[in-house]
Amino acid sequence: MSHVVVVGSFNVDHVWRATRLPRPGETLGGAYTSGPGGKGFNQAVAARRAGAEVRFVCALGDDAGGALARRLAADDGIELQAQPSDAPTGTAGIYIDDAGHNSIVIGPGANGALDAGHVRAQAAALRTAAVVLAQLESPRDAIHAALATARHGDGLAILNPAPANATVDADLLAACDLITPNETEFAGLLAAHGGQTLDAGRVADQDDARLHALCRALLPHGSVVITLGAAGCFVSHAEPARFRDADACYRIAATPAQVVDTTGAGDAFNGALAAALALQPRAAFADGIRFAGRYAAVSTEREGAAIAMPAMRVDTPTG
Ligand code: RIB
Repeated sequence: MSHVVVVGSFNVDHVWRATRLPRPGETLGGAYTSGPGGKGFNQAVAARRAGAEVRFVCALGDDAGGALARRLAADDGIELQAQPSDAPTGTAGIYIDDAGHNSIVIGPGANGALDAGHVRAQAAALRTAAVVLAQLESPRDAIHAALATARHGDGLAILNPAPANATVDADLLAACDLITPNETEFAGLLAAHGGQTLDAGRVADQDDARLHALCRALLPHGSVVITLGAAGCFVSHAEPARFRDADACYRIAATPAQVVDTTGAGDAFNGALAAALALQPRAAFADGIRFAGRYAAVSTEREGAAIAMPAMRVDTPTG
């Protein structure tokens, strides 16, 4: 029971780099590349390259993008369970500026057709996984089926509630053992569940006691990891389930990096954390968080999304 199941999206990323992001109505010159992405696939690749056995459940079109996903999954040793779709494989248009920041538009395509029935057909793997990890670029019912099935098993059900504009209902939260929002996603969740107003840009400034109280109100039965970009992350556990941590809440500083591209940095963190929790079930949760932070930092020093995930195993000693 040490494998990770990732349920989510695959996209072909079309990427334009320019000195800065274009303003409305503006045309800029830039450099174009394309490569594999999608939050689900990025997280699956990160978990795999961090050393976990990984099954990736997704939906793919019968086209070049789908063939790319199949080839890359095979190259990385990821077991692919792809639902065939008549829709084209998902795509993303990404602009990146000189500081490595990005703006993204997604064309869901086949990702939007991922069916809860296809997910439930993976019930045996979902119930026996050490970790099931999902995001919200796929239909809500498919993601709920994955998390709810995992919660009836022995492993951890983790939801990375990204992208920020996705709806997260109470039943979806109830199916999670752990959620990993960034500041924007956390502020959105607070507004939707409990009517708290907190500016996304001020999340990192809150004191630990207040952030912990907000997390406890949001997910009383589970843990919350808020990723804070350059400010690292904040961890909040429910009292009965601290995952071998000494403290119920704490911060971990970010690992310094020479950033060239932040695309997929959150995915790197989530995939690496899933691998660490799966492969080191007796370690403190904070050890997994530190590893995920180091892993994500290295990913930002490379261009691309899935291809930027480093081969950096959970048990690799780092400076
Ligand atoms: O999180 C980064 C990913 O978001 C990109 O790879 C893109 O495909 C979008 O899904």
